[in-house]
Amino acid sequence: MFIYKAGVVGAGAMGAGIAQVISFSGLPVVLKDTDQERVDKGIGMIRKVYQGRVDKGKMTASEMDQKMKLVMGTTSYDDFKDCDLVIEAVFENMKVKHQVFQELEKVLPETAIMASNTSALSISQIASAVKKSDKVIGIHFFNPAPVMKLVEVIPGLQTSTETVDDAVAFVESLRKMPVRVKECAGFLVNRLLLPYLNEAAYAFQEGSAPADEIDKAMRAFGMPMGPFALLDMLGLDVCADVSMILYDSFGPRMKAAEILGEMHKNNRLGVKNGIGFYVYDESKTGDLKPTVDAIQAKTGIKGTPFSPERLVFQMINEAAFCLEENVASPSDIDLAMLAGTGYPQDKGGPLHTADAIGIDVVVEKLKEFSKQLGPRFWPAPILKRMVSANYLGQKTKRGFFNY
Ligand code: CAA
Repeated sequence: MFIYKAGVVGAGAMGAGIAQVISFSGLPVVLKDTDQERVDKGIGMIRKVYQGRVDKGKMTASEMDQKMKLVMGTTSYDDFKDCDLVIEAVFENMKVKHQVFQELEKVLPETAIMASNTSALSISQIASAVKKSDKVIGIHFFNPAPVMKLVEVIPGLQTSTETVDDAVAFVESLRKMPVRVKECAGFLVNRLLLPYLNEAAYAFQEGSAPADEIDKAMRAFGMPMGPFALLDMLGLDVCADVSMILYDSFGPRMKAAEILGEMHKNNRLGVKNGIGFYVYDESKTGDLKPTVDAIQAKTGIKGTPFSPERLVFQMINEAAFCLEENVASPSDIDLAMLAGTGYPQDKGGPLHTADAIGIDVVVEKLKEFSKQLGPRFWPAPILKRMVSANYLGQKTKRGFFNY
């Protein structure tokens, strides 16, 4: 099926970013939100991305005008009536998502694909609200959508093979990299990234190191930005929503560090409202020390050691759980982390990192972290099986990959 026109519901940072990507590929796109002010804000964000390209000489002003003409803002579902594919990018609330999909089904052509950009909610549950559930699929972009190459394609239980193939072809037509992911909470990348970010938050609240030092250490490891800068960019509200979904599905190993909930409660949402772990708006102030002291008094945990491994091993362990559950192949897991989070290219992804370290060393270190920091580090069963079969990584020439 060829997509001649697409739509996006929700003109926030993600919705606007996705609409920019679609228009950049040369396709007309309808961008909807509930009121004109939000629509205008979204269109302003798209214009800013194009203007940045013009300023850098990557595009002429007239090319920018052509691209901007492809974007139509609206507050009405009726404007989706000739769209072949619509991506929903509203906030993470199942009730709201159900309403959006029911509205879409009323106006869209029978053949249209209804996609969700949800970060972690169940695609199958979203699809259960509509009749044409075979046309519902997850098409999950990463922030900032204009830059990040990866797009996860997640079929729900009801999704037809045709819908999956069409979604993959659509993503390729946007010059992005689609990775098919088996449905699970957080899908693939968020399922690995959130435990990493959460571990940074535990280290911070336990006084292991200040946020800027942890960020510096992770940039030295090769990540494009530190975990706290990333938390602030994603939004502490978004991260709280995703964390809750992960905890609900995977239990205690995904329990969010208390500081994340406190940040959300105290409206320190990150870049979007001028203050998170860092301050972006000089009119906003607020020392995090009293919050950290209160958490330490409540948990009785402070002064734990910090090391970049503490964060990276969370990612590696969750990648192993994902592999065991066939969420994606080893190469797709690594590729997704490279293209979706900027994991250092020279390290090849978390599973290649584990192979380079040695799976036996990874298991021993996870056991040590488990004793020292908590059972959230309990090694994934596949890691122990690999050790028992001498799949130790590069040193035995076989691990997650063959060498
Ligand atoms: N919108 C559009 N373009 C942007 C942008 C934005 N918000 N931010 C940066 N860019 C562009 C810049 O204009 C620049 O473009 P050129 O190459 O044309 O000059 C390019 O990206 C590189 O930017 P910078 O030089 O300013 O900075 P950088 O090299 O550090 O890159 C970054 C910035 C791309 C954000 C990089 O730091 C990065 O990859 N960070 C990791 C982001 C990440 O992990 N994203 C996934 C989060 S998880 C998620 O999104 C899922 C979810 O559901 C919660």
